[in-house]
Amino acid sequence: MNGTTRPGTGRLAGKVAFITGIAGGQGREAALEFARQGATVFGCDLDAAGAEETLALAAAAHEPGHGTVTSQHPVDLMAPGAPEAWIEEGIGRHGRIDVLYNNAAAVRMRRIEDPDALEAFEFTIRGELVMVFDTIRAAWPHFVRGGGGSIVSTSSTAAVQGMPVPVRTPGSSAGHSAAKAGILGLTRQAAAEGAPHRIRSNAILPGFIEAPVTAPIIAEPGAREQITASIPLRRIGRPSDIAMAAVYLASDESEWMTGETLTIDGGVHSLREEG
Ligand SMILES: NC(=O)c1ccc[n+]([C@@H]2O[C@H](COP(=O)([O-])OP(=O)(O)OC[C@H]3O[C@@H](n4cnc5c(N)ncnc54)[C@H](O)[C@@H]3O)[C@@H](O)[C@H]2O)c1
Repeated sequence: MNGTTRPGTGRLAGKVAFITGIAGGQGREAALEFARQGATVFGCDLDAAGAEETLALAAAAHEPGHGTVTSQHPVDLMAPGAPEAWIEEGIGRHGRIDVLYNNAAAVRMRRIEDPDALEAFEFTIRGELVMVFDTIRAAWPHFVRGGGGSIVSTSSTAAVQGMPVPVRTPGSSAGHSAAKAGILGLTRQAAAEGAPHRIRSNAILPGFIEAPVTAPIIAEPGAREQITASIPLRRIGRPSDIAMAAVYLASDESEWMTGETLTIDGGVHSLREEG
């Protein structure tokens, strides 16, 4: 948020929310916002130092009515059995799961012509899609037993639009686009299989967001101005833009919404500008 307006709190009161990738960027913001909204947050990340920082930020921001943030780290969700072990750890600590927010992703950006393009493609499919499926699979029986819940998975506008690849810093790739498009299919199928159990499943498609992963792209000379000019709402996205949408999808406010997508990109995807 811009600091001048903050929405009300308590929108996730009483919920246990599992969030992957809380060490920085969107995952950190979501952990802090979910706790502010009253959720008990259980996170994980490969980056232990970043996750520790998030816990310290949550502790410093804690006020009466807020939930807590705990985490297991380092956790490599791509390792065999790791998603199940993380989910079981959280269930052991908190007894149930109401929300699973699949935010973490591991990507290797390559052009199709690059010599290691196939290796990068396979890595990215595992790091951005298989890892999410495996985590959903691990959480599923707990959702069923608990009478339902909400799964929120992060896709990308790269799922629905080919992206130009910048010369120096690759900003997208076939593996990324394919994996994020796969998230959309996975989201709908989980919604179909989940509906009888009151398990909802929705996806968020962020546009270009300031985060550790995009920092090198933004740091290139002239890049910030160029990216900003290409966005109808004339600013780069903030992690809070995505966190607030995740709060909505995680909360009962969206209880009749499943198998759907929310695109949050400053208007890039749906508005065509003269120029
Ligand atoms: N930043 C953007 O412009 C943008 C745009 C569209 C979609 N996204 C998506 O948003 C999500 C959040 O990304 P972000 O922008 O905050 O970037 P980020 O790279 O800062 O966050 C990703 C987090 O996932 C963690 N992670 C990576 N591999 C892991 C693994 N194997 N096990 C556990 N944790 C792991 C990372 O350590 C990191 O903390 C991702 O799914 C990303 O693909 C980002």
